[in-house]
Amino acid sequence: MPHLPELIAPRVSASSRTIALVTDKNDWHARTLGKAFAALGAQILLLKLPACGFDTATTHGLCLPDFELGLPDAVLVRDMAGGTFQAVTLRLGFLHALQEIGIPVWNGARSIERCVDKSATSFLLARAGLPTPMTWVTESREAAAEVVRREAGPFVLKPLFGSQGRGLRLLHSELDLPAPAEVAGVYYLQRFVGVERDGFRDFRVLVSCGRVVAAMMRHSSHWVTNVRRGGKPVAAVADATMRDLAVAATAVVGANFAGVDMVYDQDGRLSVLEVNSMPAWSGLQRTTSVDIAATLAGDLVASLRLQVLRNV
Ligand SMILES: Nc1ncnc2c1ncn2[C@@H]1O[C@H](COP(=O)(O)OP(=O)(O)O)[C@@H](O)[C@H]1O
Ligand SMILES: [Mg+2]
Repeated sequence: MPHLPELIAPRVSASSRTIALVTDKNDWHARTLGKAFAALGAQILLLKLPACGFDTATTHGLCLPDFELGLPDAVLVRDMAGGTFQAVTLRLGFLHALQEIGIPVWNGARSIERCVDKSATSFLLARAGLPTPMTWVTESREAAAEVVRREAGPFVLKPLFGSQGRGLRLLHSELDLPAPAEVAGVYYLQRFVGVERDGFRDFRVLVSCGRVVAAMMRHSSHWVTNVRRGGKPVAAVADATMRDLAVAATAVVGANFAGVDMVYDQDGRLSVLEVNSMPAWSGLQRTTSVDIAATLAGDLVASLRLQVLRNV
């Protein structure tokens, strides 16, 4: 196998590291990360995935606008815009390719795939024996109706690729099941485990490098507690059970960092609802004195330093 030419080797030197921040918007997250990396002697360059692709005529085979001087030392994926099935496949393939070349990608394409597809997350959590509500996923409306008739409900119907609490429905009977076209042909049904006590609550726990960075409770009059849906972020301290579960759930999807959503069920047991591989943290930041951007930047830069030491 040919050696990677010097020319395209990632620039994992001690000084002036360049981190490609994958995002389509230069928002608060991008700005705070920019400052956090700058404080560590690294610079970020925004990388818009829709503008990237492959070019097998080049040495590395990739096409990255704004990176003419060389590939980045690492890639931090802040968010990925939606697109057609083919566009999203291309973008994930591009992230896979960066890792093939040897560039650290946080989070890597595999963990993004495992989190964006809620059925994959549910499967992996259950397989690892982590507490998560019972989940059934099928393309057949009849099979979904059979689940709703057979199992104890109610059920949450979630878009397979959903985020920020969009498109969730509570189902009490098979009559509530929408037509296939309304669910993009996939029924993701999860047992509803929410408990109403002066509104609803769930927890968001941010994990990075195998430890909890910060946690918050989200309180809402609605059972969908996402901050984007009006949930109020409240400071919370994760106890050992919550910390261990959040760290284990992050490991199960293979993520370097993740936002883990959890809820206490009727019996006071903690369950993982989903794992976010591209978590936003503006709501969480309002509840904690921990500088989240600085922590993530510090973890990524520290891992690059370790990589340098290992290669010496
Ligand atoms: N099985 C469930 N039982 C009770 N509440 C749930 C369940 N699933 C989701 N929720 C509520 O809906 C919110 C959004 O669900 P989640 O699975 O995190 O999807 P999203 O990707 O849209 O955030 C959760 O934060 C929680 O408040
Ligand atoms: Mg969520």
